Amino acid sequence: MELSQFPYLRTMILQANDIHKSFGQLEILKGVDLSVAKGEIVSIVGASGAGKSTLLHIVGTLDKPDSGKVTINGVDVTALNEKKLSQFRNEHIGFVFQFHHLLPEFTALENVCIPAFIQGKSPKEAEKTAMELLERLGVQHRAYHKPGQLSGGEQQRVSVARALVNNPALILADEPSGNLDSENAASLHQLFFDLRDALNQTFIIVTHNEELAGISDRTVHMRDGLIL
Ligand SMILES: Nc1ncnc2c1ncn2[C@@H]1O[C@H](COP(=O)(O)OP(=O)(O)O)[C@@H](O)[C@H]1O
Ligand SMILES: [Mg+2]
Repeated sequence: MELSQFPYLRTMILQANDIHKSFGQLEILKGVDLSVAKGEIVSIVGASGAGKSTLLHIVGTLDKPDSGKVTINGVDVTALNEKKLSQFRNEHIGFVFQFHHLLPEFTALENVCIPAFIQGKSPKEAEKTAMELLERLGVQHRAYHKPGQLSGGEQQRVSVARALVNNPALILADEPSGNLDSENAASLHQLFFDLRDALNQTFIIVTHNEELAGISDRTVHMRDGLIL
C-alpha cells in the first residue's frame, strides 16, 4: 500500500499558501500554492524568469513574500522576526546552490561543520557528524582538502553534506547539477534519492535536468509566476 494514496496521513513539511511577490512594479509570484510531504522529492521546472528561484528563496526564508503564508514543519515562518528566522533557517533548512558557495579558505570538513557550529555544537560533535556525512557521500578522502582542490562533483557532494549537517526538515536545491557534466549530474541526483531512502529527507529541487524531473516523485511546472 502506498502512503501517498492517503495524503492526510503524511506529515506535511512545507505548506506555502497564496504567495505573492513583486520587485518594484514587476509581479513575480502571482499566488503560488505548494505543499510538500515528508520524504518527498519534488522538482520545480519552468523557463528562465518564471519565478522559480524567487519561490525557493521565499520557501527557504531568505526572502519574505508580500502576502501569503509559509509553514515549515508546523511553524508559520512568515510570523518570525529576523533573529528567530535565521535560527530557524540554520536548524531546519539546508541549501544546495548551482555554485557550491563553499568557503575557499576552509577545508571540506570545516565547511560542513560551519552550520553545526552556528547551532552551538561542540567541535567534536560537529566533526563526527560531518565526517559521517562526507563518508556517506563518498568524499571522506577529501575531508582535509580545500574546495579549490576538489572536482565540481566533489564540491557539490561537500555542499550537500553541509546542507545535511543539522539534519534539516527540508533541503532546497537551486539547479544543483546545472554546473556538472551529465555523469556527475546523474550521480548527484542518485544521491538525493539515496538520502531520501536512508534518512527520509525531503527535497525541493529547481532543475532544468529532464532526467531528474522524470524520476522525481512529483514535478511542479511554473510559468509567469504561477504553478500550472
Ligand atoms: N531581487 C530582485 N530584484 C528585481 N527583480 C528580480 C529580483 N529577483 C528576481 N527578479 C526578477 O524576477 C523574475 C523571476 O526571477 P527568478 O525567480 O530568478 O526566475 P527563475 O529562477 O525561474 O529563472 C526575473 O524577471 C528576475 O529578473
Ligand atoms: Mg533561477
